[in-house]
Amino acid sequence: MDIVILFETVEGQTGKIVGVVAEQARDLGHRVTLCDTAQKTVNGALNGADRVILAAPVHERRHPRSFEAALVAARAELAARPTLMLSVSLKAAFPDGLEEARDYLIEMEMRTGLRPTQEVLVAGAVRLNAYDYYERQIVRHVALAGHEVALGESGREFTDWSALEAQVAAFLRG
Ligand SMILES: Cc1cc2nc3c(=O)[nH]c(=O)nc-3n(C[C@H](O)[C@H](O)[C@H](O)COP(=O)(O)O)c2cc1C
Repeated sequence: MDIVILFETVEGQTGKIVGVVAEQARDLGHRVTLCDTAQKTVNGALNGADRVILAAPVHERRHPRSFEAALVAARAELAARPTLMLSVSLKAAFPDGLEEARDYLIEMEMRTGLRPTQEVLVAGAVRLNAYDYYERQIVRHVALAGHEVALGESGREFTDWSALEAQVAAFLRG
């Protein structure tokens, strides 16, 4: 199948996730095209796509505006195909954060009018080296609020790679 991955990343974890998912899909025999919605318009990017994987991180309770704008621009083309949305956040790393992580997606759907066929809440990462002082405070006191987690010198990755692989495989199997 022809798979298009529409994605955006801010500090790089969603970019890493997209790289792993693309390699998995290629290993399964699919053709994969990547479209970074922060770099280029979505015009024509979905031509010939059999299935679409969407991936974006949450910053301050929402997915990037340019990512949401791309979903709006391609809404009709997306609605005509099976889509899998990977919503990357830190709330998704904790059972008591899942409801809030789900809310981010519901708010995205309300703003864009797009309801992906399947959705996965993916735990992201803390990347301390990528943050300024303000961002460090948000991550510690908002995204990680209520959780005393040990962070290494550069941060910590919470992504569950084997769960993600299984969810992507199920989507690609249809
Ligand atoms: C400034 C900032 C704000 C964030 N806000 C949230 C948030 O509101 N909710 C949440 O669950 N995670 C939040 N996060 C965590 C990110 O979703 C997480 O670090 C993710 O892995 C980022 O993906 P990226 O590296 O692809 O940008 C925030 C991170 C930063 C740096």
